[in-house]
Amino acid sequence: MDEKQLSLLDDHEEADNGPVVCLGMTFKNDEERREYFRNELRKKLPELKKIEGFPIGDDEDIIALSDPPYYTACPNPWINDFIEEWEREKKEKYGRDENEEYHREPFAADVSEGKNDPIYYAHSYHTKVPHKAILRYILHYTKPGDIVLDGFAGTGMTGIASQLCNNPNAVKDLGFHIDNDGIIYDENNNQISKLGARKSILNDLSPTASFISK
Ligand SMILES: C[S@@+](CC[C@H](N)C(=O)[O-])C[C@H]1O[C@@H](n2cnc3c(N)ncnc32)[C@H](O)[C@@H]1O
Repeated sequence: MDEKQLSLLDDHEEADNGPVVCLGMTFKNDEERREYFRNELRKKLPELKKIEGFPIGDDEDIIALSDPPYYTACPNPWINDFIEEWEREKKEKYGRDENEEYHREPFAADVSEGKNDPIYYAHSYHTKVPHKAILRYILHYTKPGDIVLDGFAGTGMTGIASQLCNNPNAVKDLGFHIDNDGIIYDENNNQISKLGARKSILNDLSPTASFISK
């Protein structure tokens, strides 16, 4: 990847060595956070295994593959906790009202994106969708802080696109321009969205795909 592409991903690099706050708890570092939630996952497995379609695998292998609470190699028992936290953040950080009305006209433009972007090349997956195509839809249908669910997420291009909504370079690459307040305009100067990351929840039946997403 060149410098520009690396800078696109800067926003969501993990800090591995400092204190981390996760779901309202503070940990010395990411390793401590991971170990705490791996133990929690171990306790929750008997209940989770009753869910139809639970992956076939040894408990300890599922735990070792997981990086909880963010990623679990099985149904994730913390999704509701994240949603609660993100809904609170939406109010506090973006001043959003939980009862606000939602309306968007259908996204009706043709979308065509090449498959030659370095992020596209980072790994292969047979049904991979270029993240730039997804970015256009997310900008159209959501505001900063909104939560996007992709239940058939493959290798997570929806997650990349959700985070890149906060990246001026990625948005400008689509041919849009941005004013000082972060408002995004299309080629015809129509206001289409606002700069700011969206949250994403990614799920896939394939353990390989969800592992790459993570
Ligand atoms: C078109 S692909 C998504 C590709 C994705 N947009 C990407 O960029 O990588 C559809 C995905 O749905 C997954 N899938 C199929 N049936 C599923 C199910 N019942 N539950 C969850 N995922 C499923 C497949 O494993 C596949 O990865």
